[in-house]
Amino acid sequence: MTTRNRRHFIRNLTLGSLAGLLGTQVQARTVTPREMEGPYYPITPQKDKDADLTQVAGKIGKAKGTVIEIFGQVFDNDGHALEDVTVDLWQANSFGRYHHPHDRSDAPIDEHFQAWAIIQTKAQGHFRFKTVFPGAYPLNASQQRTPHIHLKISKKGYHSLLTQMYFPDHPLNQSDGLFNSKTAVEQTLMTAKKTTAANQYRYDIVLQKV
Ligand SMILES: [Fe+2]
Repeated sequence: MTTRNRRHFIRNLTLGSLAGLLGTQVQARTVTPREMEGPYYPITPQKDKDADLTQVAGKIGKAKGTVIEIFGQVFDNDGHALEDVTVDLWQANSFGRYHHPHDRSDAPIDEHFQAWAIIQTKAQGHFRFKTVFPGAYPLNASQQRTPHIHLKISKKGYHSLLTQMYFPDHPLNQSDGLFNSKTAVEQTLMTAKKTTAANQYRYDIVLQKV
């Protein structure tokens, strides 16, 4: 390597490492795969729509189940982090029951579970919410839906995205019809990653520019 090339190499290495350290490296990303909305998009109004689904404002008591935290960032397909994205999310309670009038299962309602939330991404596209691990629920006599969280993500100038987030290594993933209709790559993109902290998951979302 000539002295000039070596200088180039060292400068690029330094800039690359610095960008990596600052988290500013921008790289193209694959758009998060879509999934159907399902029959239980929330229609029951609630005042409490915040990022803590484990309790309902004005009520004393906590939602039943395992408390989990999910955090991540929203990017566009060029890799830019997106602020002020609306993340609308809903899920079954820990017993596998949606707080929706069309869910007639025998599983109990949990009055302390905030069944849905609408949150906004902050600087660098960061979002975070606390909830309980969603229960599985019967789809029909022979099949259960594996635990998942429904999301509708929108921002002006981007295609809004309807999807479902899955949990890594859940045994029911193997028999879930929707999950298994996806390719292995799509499944990876739709599955949160367990962090080293207890009951914490990372889930990044990528939107397509219009
Ligand atoms: Fe669902």
